[in-house]
Amino acid sequence: MASPRAGTFTAPKIRKTTKRMIADWAGSGNDMKAAYHDSRFRRDDRPLVYAHRGSSAAMPENTCAAFELAARQRADGIECDVRLCGSGELVVCHDERLDRLAGLPFHVAELPLGELRTIPILSQRFPGTSATVPTLEEAVECAGPGLVWNLEIKVDRHEDAEGLARAVAGAIPRLPLAGRVLVSSFHPLALLTVRKVAPGIPTAWLWERGGPAQRAWAAFWGRLCATHALHPDAAMVRARDVEAWHRRGLLVNAWTVDDPAEIARLRGWGVDGVITNRPAEALQVLERA
Ligand code: G3P
Ligand code: CA
Repeated sequence: MASPRAGTFTAPKIRKTTKRMIADWAGSGNDMKAAYHDSRFRRDDRPLVYAHRGSSAAMPENTCAAFELAARQRADGIECDVRLCGSGELVVCHDERLDRLAGLPFHVAELPLGELRTIPILSQRFPGTSATVPTLEEAVECAGPGLVWNLEIKVDRHEDAEGLARAVAGAIPRLPLAGRVLVSSFHPLALLTVRKVAPGIPTAWLWERGGPAQRAWAAFWGRLCATHALHPDAAMVRARDVEAWHRRGLLVNAWTVDDPAEIARLRGWGVDGVITNRPAEALQVLERA
């Protein structure tokens, strides 16, 4: 059975996170919402196209091959998943372990970078490729200077949220990303930590599909965590929500959308970004309309 996302809440997690949140709140920088009106993160004529894990339908996800292709396909931005490897570097990888990506039962958090660099990612699904897990720095470098970045802070365990968020917030100013990076997470403490330690970095709250309770829960955390944008699972977006979120000064970037009809519908509802595995196809839909 798939393990629950780190953003899935149990009572102890809720108590612990809420206490921390209240303690942090007074000190956190707050108002980034002017971002909605004038920034690299929106345009007037169509939603931005974020390549999800790079151009991941065509190249191994979250690798330089996928990021370079996204740039060549003229994606506006890249979504990627950031975590720490065993030797302490920030690396780009969605999964906690390498089973799905490389057929190996290793935890990324336990592998030093030197070993990670020897493991090809999804080379069976993409014959002829030998891409490996990049560091965050390498990922940014290989995509070139033009794109915006949506760095998802990938928290596996609640206890890791703060440390990982601090590492990401500390790395961003050392990267050539000024004005073109936001951080997102399913984990509220990760985003609250970024708000506290680096209030100038825009934050986006991520949530996935669910019933009314999930919707209410997401709304609660979204109000506390997001300075810049909301990143709902596309199944959770309704036209009236987009209007309401915009009235609060937040951008809306929906994920993960590959179906042309769904992309066109989201555009009609006014979303600001679509996060897709197929950026070239998404751009075709959006530039045609
Ligand atoms: O950022 C949106 C999306 O990437 C969240 O889900 O599992 O693909 O990281 P996941
Ligand atoms: Ca992600």
